[in-house]
Amino acid sequence: MDSTITFTVNGQSRTVTTDPQRPLLDVLREDLKLTGTKYGCGEGQCRACTVLLNGKSVASCVTPVRDADKQTVLTIEGLAQGSQLHPVQAAFLEEGAYQCGYCTPGMIMGVVGLLSEKPKPTEDDIKTRMQRHLCRCCGYPNLTKAIHRATALQQGK
Ligand code: FES
Ligand code: FES
Repeated sequence: MDSTITFTVNGQSRTVTTDPQRPLLDVLREDLKLTGTKYGCGEGQCRACTVLLNGKSVASCVTPVRDADKQTVLTIEGLAQGSQLHPVQAAFLEEGAYQCGYCTPGMIMGVVGLLSEKPKPTEDDIKTRMQRHLCRCCGYPNLTKAIHRATALQQGK
């Protein structure tokens, strides 16, 4: 049976009436037309679909939309402030941390989540967190540079 779900997405209150078991990813992409969040494996294994739920990164393909009811979701579309890129977006651009770009929104949201939890991540923190994000183009070296750059930018360096 459908339920009415009301949640805040990228600072705006949104309401959908849908099957509460539907993946959050499907609701974001199909109902709210926020297609920046990507579908990769659909099984919680690649993290292409990463968004922040109450500030924590989650795989939206395996997160039922009912978990977002009355909660706050941030997607890649909500990061930049007008033409001002978020420091993590700027770092990815500066370090060329993408190739085809399919994994990039999920990677960026994963890094934003990591830095909000740990503003000064260690190498181990970065490795542990980011090893769950898969990049079929194997852009890992530049990705690592971008995370360090993002950490520095966030600290105003
Ligand atoms: S699409 Fe969600 S983890 Fe792969
Ligand atoms: S840049 Fe192509 S999948 Fe990561």
